[in-house]
Amino acid sequence: MRVDKMIGNAKLDTRRNIKRNAKKGALVINGEIVKDSSTQVDPNVDEVFYMGEFVEYFDNIYIIMNKPAGVLSATVDEEETVVDLLDDFYQMLDLSIAGRLDKDTTGLVLLSTDGKFVHKITSPNSNIEKTYEVETKDTIDESFIEEFKNGVEIKEEGYIARPAKLEIINEKKAIVKVTEGKFHLVKRLFSNLGNEVVSLKRIAIGDLKLDPFLNEGAYRELNEDELELLLD
Ligand code: URA
Repeated sequence: MRVDKMIGNAKLDTRRNIKRNAKKGALVINGEIVKDSSTQVDPNVDEVFYMGEFVEYFDNIYIIMNKPAGVLSATVDEEETVVDLLDDFYQMLDLSIAGRLDKDTTGLVLLSTDGKFVHKITSPNSNIEKTYEVETKDTIDESFIEEFKNGVEIKEEGYIARPAKLEIINEKKAIVKVTEGKFHLVKRLFSNLGNEVVSLKRIAIGDLKLDPFLNEGAYRELNEDELELLLD
């Protein structure tokens, strides 16, 4: 990785300052002054000092959680949040949520210290599909498939939703795939066509599926293979 990124991750300075200070001789890699702050280092091998301080390497953390119902997708709130479900070690990190779920929605939530990653997952420009298992109050009409494909008008908010995919599993159960993260989107797709979502669970983000061995409320760090599915 670039040495200025390593120093930035350790929250020691901004990229701009690091560049300026490196030119003045404040950057020492393996005992040698290095003036170019874009120099590549292996943080597990190279010894880096910046402004006389040893730079400890902090890797980003990526957490997958199976969110239970009744918990907020927020980092701080008076009510219980997904962060409250984490161990103390993780609670101390500066985590962001990559795609919030409603309080009553369950399933796959990603939390990370990597701001770029969170932006990539949540930005509609990335076109990353989010897959939901949906149960409805009334029978799902076949015509919804075409309506979803064409983009449902979300009347209360005055926008047309992006084309979404609907696969009907049985009368009141379906799989929905959307590429935007608008508030209550899946519920609104159905309500604007005259049906109601009674249960909603996110089961995948892009190619990353919810681990069936993660019970509701459980979490773990993503492994390399899983991370790659999202970083490609
Ligand atoms: N769409 C919704 O309506 N709610 C969610 O939690 C996620 C997507």
